[in-house]
Amino acid sequence: MASKNKVKNPAPGSKVMFIGVDLGTNHTAISTSEGKKNSIFSVVGTPKDAVASKFLKKEHLFGEEALTHRVALNLYKPIEDGVLKNQPEDIEAAKGLIEHVLKSVDGDKDKQKYAIIGVPARASVLSKKIVMDMADEFFDGVMVASEPFCVAYKLGKLEHTIIVDIGGGTTDLCRVHGTFPVSDDQISTNKAGNYIDREFVRLLQDSYTDVRVTLEMARKWKEQHSFVGKIDKEIIVELPVNSSILKLSVTKELKHACESIIPDIISGISKLISTYEPDFQDTLRSNIYLAGGGSQIRNLPAVLEMHLELIGGGKVSIFKDPVYGGADGALKLAMDMPREFWQTI
Ligand SMILES: Nc1ncnc2c1ncn2[C@@H]1O[C@H](COP(=O)(O)OP(=O)(O)OP(=O)(O)O)[C@@H](O)[C@H]1O
Ligand SMILES: [Mg+2]
Repeated sequence: MASKNKVKNPAPGSKVMFIGVDLGTNHTAISTSEGKKNSIFSVVGTPKDAVASKFLKKEHLFGEEALTHRVALNLYKPIEDGVLKNQPEDIEAAKGLIEHVLKSVDGDKDKQKYAIIGVPARASVLSKKIVMDMADEFFDGVMVASEPFCVAYKLGKLEHTIIVDIGGGTTDLCRVHGTFPVSDDQISTNKAGNYIDREFVRLLQDSYTDVRVTLEMARKWKEQHSFVGKIDKEIIVELPVNSSILKLSVTKELKHACESIIPDIISGISKLISTYEPDFQDTLRSNIYLAGGGSQIRNLPAVLEMHLELIGGGKVSIFKDPVYGGADGALKLAMDMPREFWQTI
C-alpha cells in the first residue's frame, strides 16, 4: 500500500466521500460511500479529424460509446497488462476515465474525496506512483492497494486465504494473512482474459484455414461460452470463412484456450501454499477464491480442484461479484482507514 505525500486531513464537519476504484485493463469500476457505482470499458476516444469532431459533437468519448464510434476515433487504452502506461497521451486518457466515472457517481463538487485505487498484485513502486500522480488532482487523499487484497477485504476473508483475480491483462494471486500483503504473498502472470482471446484466435486459425476471426469476436464468443473440463453440448458459432459465413464447432479450441491459464494458476497456488506457515497450510488450501471477469469460466473451480488433488488438495470457491468486487473492497478499505491514516502515511 502506498499513498501520496501530502494528504489533506478530513476537516471536522466537512462533507466527506470515500471512493474505491478498480482501474482495470478492461474495465474501470467505481464505488462510493454514498452507494453509487459505475463500470465502463477502460477506453477513451478522441475524434480523428474535424469532420468526426463535428459529427460526434464531443472531444472525448468513453467506454462503450467510444467503441461504438471507433472508426472515427483515435482510441486509447491507457492500461496494459494491468499497468498504467507512462506516455503523456495515456496518462491524459486515464485522467479522462477517472474524471468521467467520478462525474457519473457524484454531483457535489464541495465534498472532500478520499480514494483507494486497486492496482495489480505485483505493481512496481514506479507504476504505483504513476497511478497516484495521475489521480492526485481529483481527490483530497489517494492511495493505491493491491487489487486481489481489495477483493479479500470485501469478502471479509483476511486470514489464511488465497485470492485468484483473473482479469483481462493479468491473473493476480494474493495470499492474505491478516496484514497488508508483502511481495512474497503476491504472484502475477499475464495468462489472463486477453491471453485466452489470443490463444482462441490462434487455435481457430490452426483448425480452419481461411477463417477470419478478430480478437473482438473471440472475446464475445468466449464470454458467452467459456468453459474448461467437459461439457455436454458442442459450441457452434458463425465463423467468417473466405466470403461466406459457416456454422462451425469451436468447442475444442475454446476449451484449450480457456485451459491455457490453468498451469500458471496451479503453480502459483502451490507456491503460495508451500511457502506458508506449515500449521496453517491446510486452512489456506481450503480457502481459495476466484475473482475477476475470468472467474466466470464454467467448471473452473472443479477443474482447479482436480489439479490441486495432485498437490494435496484444495477447495476453490467463486467470489460472486466479478464487476465490482475490487472497487467495493477498495471502498471498504478506504472507509475503514482511521482518519489520521490519510495524513500520516
Ligand atoms: N463469462 C466469461 N467467461 C470468461 N471470461 C470472461 C467472461 N466475462 C468476462 N470475461 C473476461 O474477463 C476479463 C475482464 O475481467 P476484469 O473486468 O476483471 O478485468 P480487469 O480488471 O479490467 O483487468 P485487469 O485486472 O487485468 O487489469 C476479460 O478478458 C473478459 O473477456
Ligand atoms: Mg482487475
